[in-house]
Amino acid sequence: MRVLIKPDYDSCSKWAAEYIVYKIKLARPTAAKPFVLGLPTGSSPLGIYQELIKQNKEGKVSFQNVVTFNMDEYIGLPPDHPQSYCRFMWDNFFNFIDIKKENVYMLDGMTRDYVSECQRYEEAIQKVGGVNLFLCGIGTDGHIAFNEPASSFASRTRIKLLKPETTKANARFFGGDSTQVPEKVLTVGIGTIMDADEVMLIASGKNKQEAIRQTIEGGVNHLCPASILQMHEHAIVICDECAADKLRPDTIKYFKNIERANMVKK
Ligand code: GLP
Repeated sequence: MRVLIKPDYDSCSKWAAEYIVYKIKLARPTAAKPFVLGLPTGSSPLGIYQELIKQNKEGKVSFQNVVTFNMDEYIGLPPDHPQSYCRFMWDNFFNFIDIKKENVYMLDGMTRDYVSECQRYEEAIQKVGGVNLFLCGIGTDGHIAFNEPASSFASRTRIKLLKPETTKANARFFGGDSTQVPEKVLTVGIGTIMDADEVMLIASGKNKQEAIRQTIEGGVNHLCPASILQMHEHAIVICDECAADKLRPDTIKYFKNIERANMVKK
């Protein structure tokens, strides 16, 4: 696991966006062999999306041959609902870049056949050759996508029931009223995320300190779903100094030294 500790949210976002741009360019994607990105919603990726929009507008990166798969969606919210993850993605990212509409994959929260919808999603991922880079945020309890604590590490895309803590945390997007937050969701599984060539997790702020500590220093444990990234060959955790504050000084020193050595190599 590679861990980058940056001074603040903006520097985390900038680094992550530049890395995504670098990976897209390196892949030289074509229509036949697109670059496949897994994407999250939430506050954490907003800075990355803004930076990617900027770089796209400046002509530094194109999304013409990029295919995206979003991680999750609330059940019962139509795609144009102000709080649906579909709407979030178009309002905050897709409307401002040159991505093709047909290259954007979202789970359909309005489906009545959850099993087929989740299977369709897994098959679509397979059909494009798998995800090259999965970007993730992290919940305060260590959840990734909507894989709540105690989710199976082998899980695939499926229906999940949210914990009251998660509906409460997400109530801020629903006018502060947690009763308005759908309890049921569709989400990619931990196994789906782990199948990606690379996984990048971003975290910032005090409320992520414990989740980051458990992800990086705790044992691999399904009670902190993000800790599975310790088992991924190419996982990057990018956090600001505040989110990293509960890590042991030795851990911080270790990862900072590695990055310093990497910089010298370049
Ligand atoms: C939700 C999303 C996750 C996201 C998490 C943290 O539960 N399903 O994908 O990572 O919230 O969100 P935020 O980045 O707003 O803290």
